[in-house]
Amino acid sequence: MATITVIGSSSMDLVVTAAKRPEAGETILGEDFKSVPGGKGANQAVAAARLGADVYMVGCVGDDPYGEAIVSNLHKNGVRTDYVKSVSDTSSGTAHIILAEGDNSIIVVQGANKLVTPALVDDALPVIRESSMVLIQQEIPEDTVEHVSELCRQYRIPLLLNPAPARNAAESILANASYLTPNETEARLIFGETSIKQALEDNPNKLLVTEGKNGVRYHDGKKETVIPSFKVEALDTTGAGDTFNAAFAVALSEGKSLPESIRFANKAASISVTKFGAQGGMPSRDEVERELLDEETRNS
Ligand code: RIB
Ligand code: NA
Repeated sequence: MATITVIGSSSMDLVVTAAKRPEAGETILGEDFKSVPGGKGANQAVAAARLGADVYMVGCVGDDPYGEAIVSNLHKNGVRTDYVKSVSDTSSGTAHIILAEGDNSIIVVQGANKLVTPALVDDALPVIRESSMVLIQQEIPEDTVEHVSELCRQYRIPLLLNPAPARNAAESILANASYLTPNETEARLIFGETSIKQALEDNPNKLLVTEGKNGVRYHDGKKETVIPSFKVEALDTTGAGDTFNAAFAVALSEGKSLPESIRFANKAASISVTKFGAQGGMPSRDEVERELLDEETRNS
């Protein structure tokens, strides 16, 4: 069984559904409001746990009702929370999401996620060292990401960096990571002058550019390859990337090949977008396997 440590953010997603986005200075009436657990770190932890991994989360919440809800949701999904710290006089992270015109727009307020420090990571070193893989994203401070990348290099723990949301990442972080999973926007920011094509060639079997419904692009050392995604009726794409990353990590940790792991992750992500909320549609292991099998039967 894969043991995965996720170091990252946890938030409450405050989601408004509306027919359109308001213009600057405009007030409109929305259709619906829901608060659901989210945050890229927590989402990846929950997705990996539902897929059968043994998951530890390293993070911070505030001492507010959102913080309690975030931790109890992790528990409910089988994620170990020994290293999720509740910090007094601090607000939990929140993500302010508008779902309109078939897409989301998000403002993230980091709150307690700013306190996911290198020292907090060091407390979790015993479980990090026992992990088959570490997952990290960019809703926490960059020096923490850098520290984690150093630890993973030092202890030879495979590190998956999902460089989202978009921000520049230090060269050393990129070098220390075993896998990088930016979308196109994030890839353009990270590699600057270098074209994505060149970046893929320079980072074979390591850089995976996720292109949503167009699939996942990587270089296998000989040629550039695209693993297509599965076509579905998307209801809410929030958290699809998180599901992809978690599923990819679980599959790789269990010894599946890179292309097989991408296919498994594409399937998990495609299921996740069919339900509301970042974690709403995240599938169980059985669901993914059943659907992959159905797919094979259909194609044979
Ligand atoms: O990746 C999706 C997540 O990003 C949401 O759950 C929201 O918290 C935002 O941070
Ligand atoms: Na969803």
